[in-house]
Amino acid sequence: MSFPKYQWQPTSAEIAAAAGLNPDQVERFDHNTSPFPSDWAADVVIRQSLSLNEYPAASYVSLREAVATSTGLDPDSVVPGAGADELILLAARAFLAPGQTAVIAEPTYPMYGIATAQVRGRVVSIEAQPPDFEFPADEVITAARDAEIVWLCVPSNPLGSRSTDQAVAAIIAATDGVVVLDAAYAAFAGDDWAPWVDRYHNLLVLNTMSKAYGLAGARVGYGLGHPDLIAAIDGVRPPGSISSLSVELAVAALAAPDRMRSAVAAITAERARLAGYLHDLGLRVLPSTTNFLLCEVGPQARSVADDLMKGGLVTRTFPEDGPLASYLRFTVRSPRAHDRLLSALQRRLS
Ligand SMILES: Cc1ncc(COP(=O)(O)O)c(C=O)c1O
Repeated sequence: MSFPKYQWQPTSAEIAAAAGLNPDQVERFDHNTSPFPSDWAADVVIRQSLSLNEYPAASYVSLREAVATSTGLDPDSVVPGAGADELILLAARAFLAPGQTAVIAEPTYPMYGIATAQVRGRVVSIEAQPPDFEFPADEVITAARDAEIVWLCVPSNPLGSRSTDQAVAAIIAATDGVVVLDAAYAAFAGDDWAPWVDRYHNLLVLNTMSKAYGLAGARVGYGLGHPDLIAAIDGVRPPGSISSLSVELAVAALAAPDRMRSAVAAITAERARLAGYLHDLGLRVLPSTTNFLLCEVGPQARSVADDLMKGGLVTRTFPEDGPLASYLRFTVRSPRAHDRLLSALQRRLS
C-alpha cells in the first residue's frame, strides 16, 4: 500500500555539499519560516531540560489554557497538535470515512490531498484559474453541499491571496460537513478567526506556531473549534506527540504576543521591499497577505531555481505539469538574504 508523500527540497546540508558552501550559507526561501532566530528560547530550553525524564501531560492542559488566554476562547475549544500538519492528518481521520468527499480548492497546500488519501477519501478538486487565480467561491460552495470536509487555506499557500469573509461564511453555511480552515498565515493578514468558532459549529480553525511565532523546529500548532469537534480530534490524537520542551516554548511564545507582532510588522515591511525589487526585475509578483511572494518567472522558472540553488539559495518550485510550473515562491527573509537573492536573480535574468 502506498500513499502520496510530501515533496521536500534537499536539506541544507545536501545543498551546501553540492554547492561547496557551509550549511549556514544556505538560505531557505522555500519553507515560509521566520527569518528571526529563536534566541529568546534558550532560558525555556534550559529550564525544561531538567525534567525531560518525564512524559508531557497527555491532556496538554497548560498549552490549551495558554491558547485559550490568547484567543479568548474556552480551553475545551482548543486542541493541540504537533504542528498544523498533524492536525490536518487528524482532522481527516476524525471527519472523513473511506469513500467520503473532501473538497480542495487548488492550487493549495499539498497536505490536504495527502491527508484525504490516507483515509481513502474522495477528492473533489476545484481549480483557481491563471493568471490571477481568483478564489473559485461559487464552485466551492456548490461542491461543499455534498462534502464531509472542505479544506480551506486562508490566506492561501502558495497563492498568497486571501478569500473573502463572505466566501468563507457562504461555504460554512452551505455544508453539513466540517470546514477545516488552515490559518497558518493568518497573522500576516491580520486575521482573528476565534470569534467565528463561537458562531459556526462546523468550523475547525488550524493554527501554527511555525510561522509568525517563529517556532517551526518545535513542531507545535493548535486547532480551534466547537467542543464537539475538539472532542472528535482528541479521540484520534496520539497521547504524546508534542514534546514537553515544545509545549513550554509555545506557552512562552503565546505569552509574548508583542514579539510576534513586531516580527510580523518587520516581515510585512520587508515583503513590500522584496516585491518592489522582484517587480523591477520584470517578474509578475502576485499580491500577498502572507510571509511569501509568488512570482511568475516564465518557462525558465525551474532552471532559474536550479541555478539559484547552486549558489545556496533555495526557492519553492512547483510540478512541471501543474498551473504553477512557470512560477517560483520566495519566503520573505532578512534584508541581507534578499540582497543576495536579488543580485543572483539579476545576473541570471539579464
Ligand atoms: C498552509 C500551511 N499549513 C500548515 C503548514 C505546516 O504547519 P506546521 O509547521 O505547524 O506543521 C504549512 C507550512 O508550510 C502551511 O503552509
